[in-house]
Amino acid sequence: MRTDLIARKNWTGKVLVAFMFDGDKTPLALPGEDGRSFVAVAAEEKFTGQLKKTSLLRSEAGAAKLILAGLGKRKEFELDRVRSATARALKRAEDIGSDSVGLLVPDSKEVKGDLADFVAAAVEGAVLSSYRFDKYRTPKPDDAKPVGELVLVFANSKNLSAAMSKAVTEAVARSEAVCFARDLANEPPSPKPPEKMGEIASGLAKKGRIAVEVMHKAELEKLGMGGILRVGAGSHQPPCLVHLTYTPPGKSKKTVVVIGKGITFDSGGLSIKPSTGMETMKDDMAGAGAVLGLFKWLGSVDVPVTVHGLAPFAENMPGGGAQKPGDVIKHYNGKTAEVISTDAEGRHLLADSLAYGSTLNPDLMIDIATLTGACVVALGDEYSGLLGTDQRTIDRLISVGRQEGEFFWQLPLPDRYKSHLRSRVADMKHTGKPGVAGTITAGLFLKEFVGEGVPWVHIDIAGPSFTKEDWDYAPAGATGVPVRTIAALLKGL
Ligand code: BES
Ligand code: ZN
Ligand code: ZN
Repeated sequence: MRTDLIARKNWTGKVLVAFMFDGDKTPLALPGEDGRSFVAVAAEEKFTGQLKKTSLLRSEAGAAKLILAGLGKRKEFELDRVRSATARALKRAEDIGSDSVGLLVPDSKEVKGDLADFVAAAVEGAVLSSYRFDKYRTPKPDDAKPVGELVLVFANSKNLSAAMSKAVTEAVARSEAVCFARDLANEPPSPKPPEKMGEIASGLAKKGRIAVEVMHKAELEKLGMGGILRVGAGSHQPPCLVHLTYTPPGKSKKTVVVIGKGITFDSGGLSIKPSTGMETMKDDMAGAGAVLGLFKWLGSVDVPVTVHGLAPFAENMPGGGAQKPGDVIKHYNGKTAEVISTDAEGRHLLADSLAYGSTLNPDLMIDIATLTGACVVALGDEYSGLLGTDQRTIDRLISVGRQEGEFFWQLPLPDRYKSHLRSRVADMKHTGKPGVAGTITAGLFLKEFVGEGVPWVHIDIAGPSFTKEDWDYAPAGATGVPVRTIAALLKGL
C-alpha cells in the first residue's frame, strides 16, 4: 500500500475518512456547522460513532464522499480501536471501488496520547487489512480490489512533521514484516520445505547488521541436535536450523534470543492426525515465520540490543525413517526424552534450540510456537499462552500486546506437575497425562532445556496464529501474531 502525508488544503482526493467518537456532536477534525450536519445525516441511519460501524455520506454535488468511522465511547478508547476503525472504513471504501483514500488526521488536542501513535495505528490498520494471499488464485471479475493508497490528510498542518512522517514509515515497515510472516505461513506446505525456508531466511541478510547461518543436516548431526533430526527423519526433506544475528549500530545493551517452531507441515508423523483440518498444519511454522518477520523488520530499524533468531525447520512425516512412539531422543544438552506421540514434535525442535540459545548468554530468551491444541481449548483462538521464568517480560507482553491488539494470558508453570513427565526409560517423557494440562506440561518440558539462570518466556500461539474467519485487520488465514508485540518489546528494551 502506498502512503502519503498532506495538508488538508492540498488534498484533492475523492473519498475521505473521518473518525468519530460515539455520542460526539461532530467528527474529529470536522468541527462547526459542517461537522454537525454530517453527524445529523449519519444519525438518520442510526450511526452515532459506534465502534466498528461506518457511515457513508455523499456531498451534494456527488463528487466527494465522506466515510465516518466509529471509535466507540471516548472514555473506553484504546489505540487498537484506531486499527479496527480504519480497517472498517477502508472496507467501505473498497466496496465503493475507491483506490485512493484520504484519512483525516485529527489535531493532537482531540486524541488521548501521542498523535504519532494514533496515526501509526491507522496506517497499520490499513496495511494489515488490505493484505491478501492470492498468488495461487485466478482473479474473478467481481473480486473487490483492496484500497491501494492511503493519504494522511492533516487538519492541522503543524502536525505534519518529519517525526510524523517517520512514524508512518515505521508503521508501514512493521506491517510489512507482519505480512511477510503471514505469507510464509499461508504458503502451501510442499513449496516450503525446511531447506527452502533456509534460503528465504538467507535473503534477510544485511551487510554489517544481519548475519544468517543455515545449519544443515550434517552439521546438526555433528552438534548432536537429536530433537530436530529425529522429528525430520520421517520426511524426504532434510531438516535445518537457521541462526540469524542482528547487531545494533551503537553499543548493545542486551542480548535477546528469539526462537520459533518451524514445522513446515505437521502430519502428526506415525501418530498421524485426523484428516479433518490437517490442511491448517501448513501453519505449524508460524513461530519460525514470526522470527523471520522480526528480522525483516530489524532490517529497517535500529534497536539497541543484539538479537539472535533461531528457527529450527523440519517436516513431520510418517516416512520409513520416522521416529516412533517408544523411541528415545537425545537433545543438544544431553537430556533424553521418551517419545509417546510423534505428534508432540515441536517441543523437540524447541528443546535443541533453547539449549543452543542458552549458550549465547542471553539476557532474555523467548520462544514462539504453535505448540498445543490444549492452549486453544484453554484460551480460545485470540489469546496466546505465556509461560516462563521471567515475570517482568510476561507482564510486559500482556500490556504491550493489548496496545498492539495481540492478546496474551499467562498460565502457571508449577514444579508439582513435573511428575507428569516421569519416565522409566529416559530422563523424562515428552508429554504428560492425556487431556491434562497439555500446555503446562509442554512448558515444563521446555524448561528442562533452558540454561541455568536464563530468563525465559514461552509463547504458545496455537490459537491466534491462524484464523478461519476474517478479523478486523487480519483476513482469514495466517495472522502474523505476535510479530508486532515482540517488535514493540524489543524497541522498548
Ligand atoms: N502443531 C500441533 C499443535 C496445534 C494444534 C497447533 C492445533 C495449532 C492448532 C502440535 O504439534 C501437536 O500436535 N500437539 C499435540 C500434543 C499432544 C500429542 C500432547 C496436541 O496438541 O494435540
Ligand atoms: Zn504435532
Ligand atoms: Zn506441531
